[in-house]
Amino acid sequence: MSLAASDRSKQPDNRTTMELGKVLPKTAEVHDGHLFIGGVDMVELAKQQGTALYVFDQADLEDRMRTFRSAFESRYPNSGIIFASKAFQNKEMVRLLAQEGLYMDSSGGGELACALACGYDPKNVFLHGNNKTERELREAIEAGVGRIIIDSRIELARISRIAGELGVVQPIYMRITPGVEADTHDYIITGSEDSKFGFTIGMDDFAFRCVADVLAAPHVELKGFHCHIGSQIFDLSSFREAAFIMVEFMARVNREYGLALDELDLGGGLGIAYKAEDNPPSIDDFAEMTTTAVRDACAQFGLPLPRLYVEPGRSLVANPGVTLYTIGIMKTLPDIRKYVAIDGGMSDNIRTALYGASYEPVIANKADQPRTEIITLCGKHCESGDVVVVDMPIQTPEVGDIVCVFCTGAYCYTMSSTYNGQPRPAIVFVKDGEARVVTRRETYEDLMARDL
Ligand code: LLP
Repeated sequence: MSLAASDRSKQPDNRTTMELGKVLPKTAEVHDGHLFIGGVDMVELAKQQGTALYVFDQADLEDRMRTFRSAFESRYPNSGIIFASKAFQNKEMVRLLAQEGLYMDSSGGGELACALACGYDPKNVFLHGNNKTERELREAIEAGVGRIIIDSRIELARISRIAGELGVVQPIYMRITPGVEADTHDYIITGSEDSKFGFTIGMDDFAFRCVADVLAAPHVELKGFHCHIGSQIFDLSSFREAAFIMVEFMARVNREYGLALDELDLGGGLGIAYKAEDNPPSIDDFAEMTTTAVRDACAQFGLPLPRLYVEPGRSLVANPGVTLYTIGIMKTLPDIRKYVAIDGGMSDNIRTALYGASYEPVIANKADQPRTEIITLCGKHCESGDVVVVDMPIQTPEVGDIVCVFCTGAYCYTMSSTYNGQPRPAIVFVKDGEARVVTRRETYEDLMARDL
């Protein structure tokens, strides 16, 4: 990304931490100038655990899981919430999902292995991926995952063969590409026709014709359909459009193939506030739009209401998560920008470099002060594009200050790397004044552990 392309008109906003609204984890507070989350002083925590450090507000996480469930179940009782593990996974998260009655989307062998290691019920796992390997498929079918979302005819044959070898019938969904152009970053649009994912609904009725192949395949049982139109979506009408297309497709399949499929998975994608001025739809707005769309479309096409799933990732975990860093170096380039270098960067948060993402930073030990300076928070890696925050307001920074970057709970840890031999940060869950390390910091030994 080009730093020059950033928003250089950004002005100090004079807001203090607590004025950042939706960006904050739910239990954020400021006492004596220090930022507290879950009743824990972030400055003290950074000192105890070292930085960079991922911190999750556990009460906020639990609250969002409950809100998602109740938002859907109160409007549409026959529904389920599937958490997209790609956004964030560790063993503690898997335990929380089980505790809160959420299903799990697993998109790779390691994600499934983590679920199984925690004793998570494989029947509640939905396996995704556009090129699942033979090994991943075999492990999943052997474990008895609830649904495999098939992405192609080649994969259909593979699953059918493996299930036959294992003497089981594997329940599957077909992933449909509904041709909806969601309004988001190009890299995370997935539902448009030009996509590597799924069976295209257009292209000479491709998806519809492939249903015949799925029905003819032994050892698999088609249970329903899936779509996922993209991520970080604010415009709910894209979900309505996708729901409508999917129900229409399902009704037609049921009618013309004489089936009674009754499961529909509309994927994830609900956007969140990364910046104080962002105004994403709420979980309730999302539930209202999708359930109403499904009901209306079912009424229109004469389809009984299917069991409905959605697969949120980001909207469950992004806001409860923050990253703490320590300022090591500062460099002021008059008339260009002020670089503030932290002890992490693109290794723990690649999203700014990859998507031009934007985050709100504060200084955790000056959290009651207004953010009167504009800075660029750069990392410690050997790349100019190694930035976490570009030209954003912050309190007056000094070497040794603890910086907190908000909304890093999704797609940061799971996309992290060890670039420049940087051990990955620990993960701490905070709640009711207690801090628990749930993933320890990576060590240099860990980095070398696989070298022979
Ligand atoms: N279901 C499927 C099949 C998906 O591919 C995804 C995300 C989700 C659900 C969850 O979507 P969410 O609710 O989180 O938007 N690394 C990118 C995001 C990639 C999303 C990939 N698929 C980022 O950091 O923005």
